[in-house]
Amino acid sequence: MLESIAKSRSLEALEALRVAYLGRKGRVTEQLKGVGALPTAERAAAGKAANELRIVVEAALAEREMVVREAEVKRTLATPFDVTAPGIVPLLGHRHPVSVVLDELVDLFWQMGYQVADGPEVETEWYNFEALLVGKDHPARDMQDTFYLSEAHLPRTHTSSVQIRHMEAHRDKLPIRIIAPGKVYRNEDEDARHSWSFYQLEGLVVDEGVTLGDLKGTLEQMMKGILGNDTKVRLRSNYFPYTEPSVEMDATCAICSGSGMLGDVSCHLCSGSGWLELGGAGMVHPQVLRNVGIDPDRYSGFAFGFGPERLAAIKYGVDDVREFWRPNFRFLEQF
Ligand code: FA5
Repeated sequence: MLESIAKSRSLEALEALRVAYLGRKGRVTEQLKGVGALPTAERAAAGKAANELRIVVEAALAEREMVVREAEVKRTLATPFDVTAPGIVPLLGHRHPVSVVLDELVDLFWQMGYQVADGPEVETEWYNFEALLVGKDHPARDMQDTFYLSEAHLPRTHTSSVQIRHMEAHRDKLPIRIIAPGKVYRNEDEDARHSWSFYQLEGLVVDEGVTLGDLKGTLEQMMKGILGNDTKVRLRSNYFPYTEPSVEMDATCAICSGSGMLGDVSCHLCSGSGWLELGGAGMVHPQVLRNVGIDPDRYSGFAFGFGPERLAAIKYGVDDVREFWRPNFRFLEQF
């Protein structure tokens, strides 16, 4: 036994010997078990001998294990190591394309002196609708189909609720110049330009003498910053209960540069119009200002709200906004 232990060269071989000698059916174990079957007179001496054998075998195994381990370390150190071999590059994550666009927008507005405001995603009807002059039976509520959580609470359908919260809290600290990026939720059928949950970026300025011209200049500056200097912004007349006048904001299509054509065929992203609809905006309705305790005879303001997913779609040439939120790494890895 001791000779076999002394000759073994690997940890695996030593383990096999340990099982063969000291395991449940090992030779030493069997010898120890056999002591009970011997005549009484022989038991003490046989028991003592078997125990001494166990101690000697255990010690030999432990001693040999140290020698084998040391030899293995020496062998590993002696193996040549190629320090120039290419390593394994770990997979790195990166920012989501919609986050990239949102971060760029926050940066742009920060440079223009705006602060970032926040509000809860679960809102009351007052902040989401009524303070914005969208009454219970107002047809505009159908435009933003709502997931109700209870009679009084709903996941916000737009970030315009943050306008009200911010004006309420800062009506004594005018002027206001904020943006509010955040998630919104609508119970609507999904398609290439609509998902049930998406981001919006709200903007609000309240001061003395704010005009529609200021709104247009701000939107144009923003779009140029995100989509490039050649981008033009167009405001079309629209309707929102909380702004008067209300406008729809279009930007020249980034794929066809506003021409509507790609070679001889019409552009697939803007369907040949040369323009893409990005969001709504307008001058804050005087009654909204009154609702939050701001004097509309002295102050005026503009507000806007648009979808960063659509902006990211234009910027990166993606033709379906739902792609952004699918767990599809092959799609996301492209950005
Ligand atoms: C609004 O939500 C208004 N609150 C915007 C506003 C703010 C007007 C301040 C006036 C003053 P609208 O429902 O059109 O408006 O949504 C604004 C933008 O959000 C859209 O132009 C689009 O870019 C984006 N959007 C709307 N619905 C979806 C959707 N289902 N999926 C992805 N983006 C959407």
